[in-house]
Amino acid sequence: MCGGEGELGTRCERDQRFRVEPAALARGDGDPLLGTVLGARFVVEAWLGLGSTAGLYRGRCLVSGTPCALKVLRDDGPTGALALELAAAEAQALGRARSPRVVALLGEGVVELAGGEARAGWLALELLGPSLGELAKPRAAAEREGLVLGALRDALLALGDLHAAGLAHGDLTPDHLRVRADGGAWVLVDLGSARPLGLGAAALPAPCSPGYAAPEREATGPTVSADLYALGRFAAYLLDARSSARGDAPATLLDVHTHAAHGADRARLGGSLRAWSAELTRAEPSRRPASACAALEALDRALSSSGSAVES
Ligand SMILES: Nc1ncnc2c1ncn2[C@@H]1O[C@H](COP(=O)(O)OP(=O)(O)OP(=O)(O)O)[C@@H](O)[C@H]1O
Ligand SMILES: [Mg+2]
Repeated sequence: MCGGEGELGTRCERDQRFRVEPAALARGDGDPLLGTVLGARFVVEAWLGLGSTAGLYRGRCLVSGTPCALKVLRDDGPTGALALELAAAEAQALGRARSPRVVALLGEGVVELAGGEARAGWLALELLGPSLGELAKPRAAAEREGLVLGALRDALLALGDLHAAGLAHGDLTPDHLRVRADGGAWVLVDLGSARPLGLGAAALPAPCSPGYAAPEREATGPTVSADLYALGRFAAYLLDARSSARGDAPATLLDVHTHAAHGADRARLGGSLRAWSAELTRAEPSRRPASACAALEALDRALSSSGSAVES
């Protein structure tokens, strides 16, 4: 960026890039994408962080003025020459998912990076709020259980939609469930490993987070059963994780998403959730619930058999 003076968010006449906040510029450390426009619509405004396959930026749509997330897979990055193919596969999966419980795709494309030394596939996505992991970990156990229950219900509905669209997510983790920015619902993100059901493991690589992967996942690739296993696994992980309480978790979002349970009900809720997660994480796939809908019914059974009446 040439550093020409002018109002934030306006285009510099000298290098044709948009002016971004000085802090974003400093953090981006010469990143050639900052201030550029992707697909003639999305300004790259700030660097948010690096995932295992992609870089995530905050952007803004020039047409609507609304902020967005920009996921960028460079072909000189972690996935090498597969980057463009992986970005296209993710965009295709997002288009196919068509569910309000899955992150909305606003645009996609390929960009040549400055100097033409690399190319990148990019996706413009609705910008979401914090993840389940970020919200749950700072909470004390009792509060966390209510939060996890609300998130599990939304995740099962999202998985039901995804599976009905013929896709398995392939990489469910507490970081891949995020709250919609208006605080309304939990939304599934990162369809980078989502693959059509029945495709098997041979197609495009579909990496997953080892801590939550079903034992058969490497051999089978993404499946309905492996998605349910991962959900059960991360539920157990969140329930048992030590609280990292620092008193700085966003309380307003918690109010919206916590299912209220009181007294003895609250004490029983953790036990019910653990029993349910044990059903989903059975080693033998045929002994797990057969679908997201069956897993939701199992959750209701676990809650009612222990007497944990929770208000939604
Ligand atoms: N639309 C979004 N709004 C806000 N944050 C998002 C959005 N999409 C993804 N993220 C977050 O950005 C991070 C990286 O995104 P994503 O998971 O899609 O890429 P990745 O390369 O697979 O990274 P990871 O290895 O962390 O899974 C994740 O923590 C994810 O929760
Ligand atoms: Mg991811």
